[in-house]
Amino acid sequence: MCGIIGHAGRADRTLDVLLAGLEGLEYRGYDSAGVALANGDLDVCKREGEIEMLQRAVDPGLGGPVGIGHTRWSTHGPPSDANAHPHTDCSGDVAVVHNGIIENYDELKAKLREAGHEFDSDTDTEVVPHLIEDALAGGASPEEAFRSAVARLEGSYALAAVFAGSEALLATRSGSPLVLGVGDDAAYLASDVPAFLEYTDRVVYLEDGEFARLESGTWSVTDASGARLDKSVSRVEWDAEETAKSGYDHYMLKEIHEQPRALRKCLRGRVDELTGTVNVEALEGLEADAVQFVACGTSYHAALYGAQTLRAAGVRAQAFLASEYATSPPPISDGTLVVGITQSGETADTLAALRRAKGRGVETLALTNVVGSTAARECDRTLFIRAGPEIGVAATKTFSSQVVAANLLSASLAERGDAREVVEALRDLPGQVQEILDSSRAEEVADRFVDSDGYFFIGRGYHHPVALEGALKMKEITYRHAEGFPAGELKHGPLALVTDRTPVFAVVTGDGEEATKTVGNVKEVEARDAPVVAVTDGASEVERYADEVLSIPETHPRVAPVLANVQLQLVAYYVAAELGRSIDKPRNLAKSVTVE
Ligand code: M6R
Repeated sequence: MCGIIGHAGRADRTLDVLLAGLEGLEYRGYDSAGVALANGDLDVCKREGEIEMLQRAVDPGLGGPVGIGHTRWSTHGPPSDANAHPHTDCSGDVAVVHNGIIENYDELKAKLREAGHEFDSDTDTEVVPHLIEDALAGGASPEEAFRSAVARLEGSYALAAVFAGSEALLATRSGSPLVLGVGDDAAYLASDVPAFLEYTDRVVYLEDGEFARLESGTWSVTDASGARLDKSVSRVEWDAEETAKSGYDHYMLKEIHEQPRALRKCLRGRVDELTGTVNVEALEGLEADAVQFVACGTSYHAALYGAQTLRAAGVRAQAFLASEYATSPPPISDGTLVVGITQSGETADTLAALRRAKGRGVETLALTNVVGSTAARECDRTLFIRAGPEIGVAATKTFSSQVVAANLLSASLAERGDAREVVEALRDLPGQVQEILDSSRAEEVADRFVDSDGYFFIGRGYHHPVALEGALKMKEITYRHAEGFPAGELKHGPLALVTDRTPVFAVVTGDGEEATKTVGNVKEVEARDAPVVAVTDGASEVERYADEVLSIPETHPRVAPVLANVQLQLVAYYVAAELGRSIDKPRNLAKSVTVE
């Protein structure tokens, strides 16, 4: 999705900060990029394509005490130089960058055209500099003009503007994130902390309806009426090292390898290994008659897992796709807890579902990775998964941490259950993930099946979400067809697609009824000549029917899905690597999806 970076400080540093900031935002996904620097004039440069295209095009001598930059992910109009941000007014004296969607832009554009304004792009954003231009022409100051333009907008936005002849950078938000960075002699603005983390870890989160002014390295925040607000400065725990590739070919591979550490951090101080009890401060006193999870994509798979875990603990629980919940919410009773699982805390569909739940008067809980994110700030409670920054678009370590955090939630609400055994298994989990990372045969398996027509993933019970997640990871980064199913469903239709060119990855652990039945399903695909890859702890007889085996250590059935999923992450990674795909930034996708 789109990204914003802004800088107010030394004039000779602005361009470097903007370009480095745009690189720091690359992971969000984009198709064009641009910068605007204000000095006596306004210098704007923007290009379709990679940031490298912009770097080549921009005059390296450009300077200015304030500047803004943007990575665009197309919504209104295709990727092009003209549609790239920043957008300017007729005179070229006002430049604006924008994340989100301005819903009434058609109407505003028509009025502006009638008044003689000319437009260069297909975007909704371009109305904003023209609205500002109108107000400036009427004698307003840049700040008054910015506020009056914003007052006419409907929709969601994070906006930043700079003006020829002014040293002020003005910004505001409504429904789209913006954060200020506080440096010693500079102030920064970004849609996401990694954009300026190299310079400062001190941040100020803007709330909807607040306005920021950055000037000469200083910052201030006011409310809609212009009254100054006393905002607190907090420190982010992430450091620049965590957001670097550290020798790995891709962020995704680095993040897969970071899982042991991420899981330890998720558990630290929250479980007592001796007593087998779970004590999470954020969940103290939490009670719920029922739980509804809302989430998207990978987080939805964690939600499916979470709902099963809670049901096993005697709590009524269901998982919903957030985009569906937002428009067709299910019945709800007082005493229901709605849990939004969202790595970024900014996914528009999940936020919409959580707001819908809040509007119905029930308690909400965010299960998220990002401190200061919208979900964390809007929900009644937040359980942080502490996975550290995840830059690769494909969610990996955050899924594992979400699953572990779901267990913490479950233990906190449990009516009954086996918390002690689960805590013991969770204690061993980081080490077992490390074992897999050290010994996995995923690269060989990927190499053997890289030329397949498609990939199927099957699993039962807790492994059903893993099957779905294995398929999502595969299709997302390899661009190959992949589907995941509950193992018993394959014969009800999808089996028609199974051939000797479609490997079936079967997740089977333990030797209970679920394992026995899944082995039966494996026999069905084997009889159709499909190659079988068993992801297994070796307890069942599945290996007898498998062409390849990806082993995982034995553990509690509730914890095994995390281990199995690590093997599938690696297979998807190595298939994509062999195909030469853009692994960290797959086509058409964005890290945090801030439109519904
Ligand atoms: O930030 P969120 O967890 O709310 O994101 C939800 C999905 O967009 C996300 O999980 C997506 O499916 C992953 N990038 C897939 O790897």
